[in-house]
Amino acid sequence: MAILKAVRGTRDLLPPETALWNHVEATARAMFARYAFGEIRTPIFEDTQLFARGVGEETDIVSKEMYTWEDRARADSDGAQSLTLRPENTAGVVRAYIEHKLADTGMLQKLFYIGPQFRRERPQRGRYRQFWQIGAEVLGPAWSGADSPLRDAEVLEMLSAFLNELGVKGWRLELNSVGSSTDRPRYIAALREALEPVKYRMCADNQRRAETNPLRVLDSKAAEDQEIIDSLPKIADFLDDASREHFAQVLAALDACNVAYKVNPRLVRGLDYYTRTTFEFTVPDGSGLGTQNALLGGGRYDGLSEMLGGPKAPGIGFAIGEDRLILTLQAQAEAAATTVTEKKLDAFIAPMGLGQNTAAVALAQELRRAGLSVEVGDGTFRLKKSFEAADKLARRMVILGEDEAASGILTVKDFSAGEQTKVARAELADALRK
Ligand code: HAM
Repeated sequence: MAILKAVRGTRDLLPPETALWNHVEATARAMFARYAFGEIRTPIFEDTQLFARGVGEETDIVSKEMYTWEDRARADSDGAQSLTLRPENTAGVVRAYIEHKLADTGMLQKLFYIGPQFRRERPQRGRYRQFWQIGAEVLGPAWSGADSPLRDAEVLEMLSAFLNELGVKGWRLELNSVGSSTDRPRYIAALREALEPVKYRMCADNQRRAETNPLRVLDSKAAEDQEIIDSLPKIADFLDDASREHFAQVLAALDACNVAYKVNPRLVRGLDYYTRTTFEFTVPDGSGLGTQNALLGGGRYDGLSEMLGGPKAPGIGFAIGEDRLILTLQAQAEAAATTVTEKKLDAFIAPMGLGQNTAAVALAQELRRAGLSVEVGDGTFRLKKSFEAADKLARRMVILGEDEAASGILTVKDFSAGEQTKVARAELADALRK
């Protein structure tokens, strides 16, 4: 029989690697708590319309990369419906914001999420079809302060603190302002005009983008087109006074917090909903990501809620590519030759003979209740096999034979000290904790 494998672009995460994933997520949760975020969990699939309207029909994500299917009609429901595995989570969060009338609280909403997203991209290192994001959205009615530049700076400062806390080395923050929802169309019109006489000299991809989504030309990596792209109009020259002032305040607040950044006038990002501040954090070459070196990205949006039928709710958010963050941490640890030491269990209980299995399970229960991490062998194991298994997994081995059961005095082998001692059952938990 042919062996079934995980689908291309998806992967299994196994111990001990999952310990690093949990460490990253625990660090993120602790950070979100310090910055007053609460968790939101939205469904993994949504009505296809949500992404078509929320992310934008012309984006790569919606036009090429979504997992969409017609959900069969059932007798008890209204009929077939087009559903999509979420390619990102901002649209889902804004839908939930509208659906649960969070605007009515009048309060700024600070929501974070951790979960899988799905895009049919060409798989490579750091780019998967099921990948994980740790993200957050800060949104609310304008009077909640949701459109304040303070929020942009707070989010960016939080992200820089997070990467530092995890020990990510050499990260860089690039940011730009793509202007208000009225600046953008003016700029796009100017881009179209500037591209018109030169686009025939560009690669096929950029020729298509020049037609469908000229902003996307700006983040093209095609070497042969760079000269033309550098000569195109800059968004900075199309910002209205309010957007210009907003961006200046974001930069001033970052300076006040000593967060290093670089303004990149070409950073526009691939989703349609961005207005004003957009940003990306990247890691240097040699951090295990190859060309997929964008660790995380995000930006401000205004109009997304209205596009989904909701009230005005400006916001700012980001999503960290968790897979990429983990690859970076692993590659940088390897480069620095710091071995991530696996934490061993407190004890391995070795029952001597099948007759001791029941007592072994009961002893394990007792020790685990006392807060110790314990694995149990099996009465069929010879002593040598128990030793080998215990040495791999645990700091100590507890031998449980007929004599030990009768006397209540257990034999404890300490692997690092290389010594064997006798311990009364009542003192066992304390002895193992040392
Ligand atoms: P995005 O730039 O599409 O933004 O994705 C954010 C991050 O997710 C990327 O920087 C990257 O690290 C990671 N990522 C994206 N695609 C893949 C993939 N196929 N495999 C592995 N990692 C990937 C968003 O998704 C926006 N929702 C962010 C946002 C939130 N903007 C405002 N609020």
